[in-house]
Amino acid sequence: MHEIIEQLEEKRRRAREGGGPARIEAQHAKGKLTARERIEVFLDPGSFEEWDMFVEHRCTDFGMDREHYPGDGVVTGCGTVNGRLVFVFSQDFTVFGGSLSESHAEKICKIMDHAMRVGAPVVGLNDSGGARIQEGVASLAGYAEVFQRNVLASGVIPQVSLIMGPCAGGAVYSPAMTDFIFMVKDTSYMFVTGPNVVKTVTHEEVTAEELGGALTHTTRSGVADLAFENDVEALLRLREFIDYLPANNREKPPVWPTDDDPERIEFSLDTLVPDDPNKPYDIKELIVKIADEHEFFELQPDYAANIVIGFIRLNGSTVGVVANQPMVLAGCLDIDSSRKAARFVRFCDAFNIPILTLVDVPGFMPGTAQEYGGIIKHGAKLLYAYAEATVPKVTVITRKAYGGAYDVMSSKHLRGDVNFAWPSAEIAVMGPKGAVEIIFRKDLGDPERIEQRTREYREKFANPFVAARRGFIDDIIMPHETRARVCRSFAMLRDKKLENPWRKHGNIPL
Ligand code: HXC
Repeated sequence: MHEIIEQLEEKRRRAREGGGPARIEAQHAKGKLTARERIEVFLDPGSFEEWDMFVEHRCTDFGMDREHYPGDGVVTGCGTVNGRLVFVFSQDFTVFGGSLSESHAEKICKIMDHAMRVGAPVVGLNDSGGARIQEGVASLAGYAEVFQRNVLASGVIPQVSLIMGPCAGGAVYSPAMTDFIFMVKDTSYMFVTGPNVVKTVTHEEVTAEELGGALTHTTRSGVADLAFENDVEALLRLREFIDYLPANNREKPPVWPTDDDPERIEFSLDTLVPDDPNKPYDIKELIVKIADEHEFFELQPDYAANIVIGFIRLNGSTVGVVANQPMVLAGCLDIDSSRKAARFVRFCDAFNIPILTLVDVPGFMPGTAQEYGGIIKHGAKLLYAYAEATVPKVTVITRKAYGGAYDVMSSKHLRGDVNFAWPSAEIAVMGPKGAVEIIFRKDLGDPERIEQRTREYREKFANPFVAARRGFIDDIIMPHETRARVCRSFAMLRDKKLENPWRKHGNIPL
C-alpha cells in the first residue's frame, strides 16, 4: 500500500511539472503563466477538482513511445468561480507545445460532456500549437469531436474561450464556435494560416501579431471580444464576466446583492442630449448612470464602436445592453455594428438575459461599400435577432429613431415589451432634411420654401408624440428617472412567458 501511495505521489509530481522546469521557465520568460497557475488564478482557491491527470498519448510513431507526460498537455476538471460551478480546460504549452492529441481531445470532450449533463459553463484556456503533428489524422478527429460538442452545447451552456498563446489552423474554429473570445495582448494570436503560408500564397509580408494578434481581432476583424494586458488581468476579468452569466439555458441569470437603490434619480441625465440634434454625446454615460454601482462590462469596445454592447446589472440581476453610439458615425447602423449587436442579442435570448436597448439612430449607413458588402443581409441579422428574441425587452429612445433602424432597434412592433421615449426623441421615417428633399422635390430651387417645409416637418415629427399617440411608445419619461422606470419594467417582466412557433430552427440570414 505504502509503495503504491508513493507511486501515486510521484506520478502526481511528474504531472504537475508538465514539460519540465526548463520549458516552464521559457513559458514564464514570455510573460505567460503555466496551465496550472492559470487555473489557480481563475478558480476559487482550493475548489479545483482535476480529472485525467494520468492520461497519456497512445502514439508510437516518430519516437513518441519514449516521450510521455502524464496529462498529455491539457489540465482539465471543474471548480467554482465565486461559488458557482464551472468546467475548465487549460492547455499546457510546456508539453508538446500544448498540441492536441487524440487523448488530449478526449479529456476536453469529457469535461464538455459533464458540463452539458449538469448544466454549467465551459471555459477553455487555449495555448496550443494546434494538431499534434506526430499523430496525423487521429488529432484531426480529436478536433472534430470538440467542434461537434461546441455546436451541441451552443445555446445550452455558456462557452468562453481565453486565448493565451498560439491558436492556429483549424484549431481556431473551436473558440470561434464558443460564445465569447478573450485574448491576451502580445502573447496570443489566432489565424487560419500563419505568416509563412500567407507569404507563399498571397505574397503579403505580415507578422503573426499583425495577422492575428489581440489588437487585430479586437479592432479589425471583430473575432475577439476583449484584449487584456496579461494573463492575470485576463483571468481575473474572466471571473467577473462569469458572474454575469446564468449556468445554462434553463436558468435565469444570477442575482447579486446590491446597495444601489433601483429608484435612484440621476438629474445629470436631463442635460445629456445636446440641444443641437446633430451634436454627439456619449451613450456610455447613460449606460453607466443606469447600471447598479455604475458598473458596465463592455464587450468589443474597439470594434464597430457605433454600437455599444455589454452587461450591466439592474437591481442585482444581469441585463444585456445594446445602444447606438452617437459619438461614432453618428450612431448609424452598418454591417459590422449589425453583426456585432445581432450576435449579442441572440446570446442574451438563448440564456434568458433581458435586453435593454438604448436608441439614437439616424438610420442605416448609405454607400456602395455598405451595399456591396451586403448591408441588406447583415442588417437583417439584427432585425431577425430582435424579432425572434422572447426575453424581456425594454427600449428607451433618447433622440433619433429614424427609418428601418427605428423598427430594428427593439421597437414595439418587434415585440418590445416596454418602449419609452425621452422628450428629446425624434421618431419618423427619415430625418427632416432628407424627407423634404424627396416629397417637395419641385421646391428644391427655392431655398426659403425648403427651409419652411423642413421646419414644418421637424415640428410634426421630431418629437415622441406621434408614436405615443399610436401606443408605439408606452410612456414619455424624464431622463433623470430612466433607471427607476427601466428597473420597474424589468421587475414587472420577470416572469414573462412568450414562445415562438415550433420549428427545427429558423434560417437567420447568415
Ligand atoms: C507537436 C508541437 C506542435 C505540434 C509545437 N510543438 N507545435 N508538437 N505538434 N503541432 C512542440 C515543439 O516541437 C516544441 O517541442 C514545443 O512544442 C514548443 O514549440 P516551439 O516551436 O519551440 O515554440 P515557439 O517558438 O513558441 O513556437 C510555437 C509555435 C510553433 C508557433 C506554435 O511551435 C509552431 O508553429 N508549431 C506548429 C504549428 C502548426 O503548424 N500546427 C499544426 C496546425 S494544423 P520541444 O520538445 O522542442 O519543447 C492544425 C489543424 C487543426 O492545427 C485542424 C482542425 C480541424
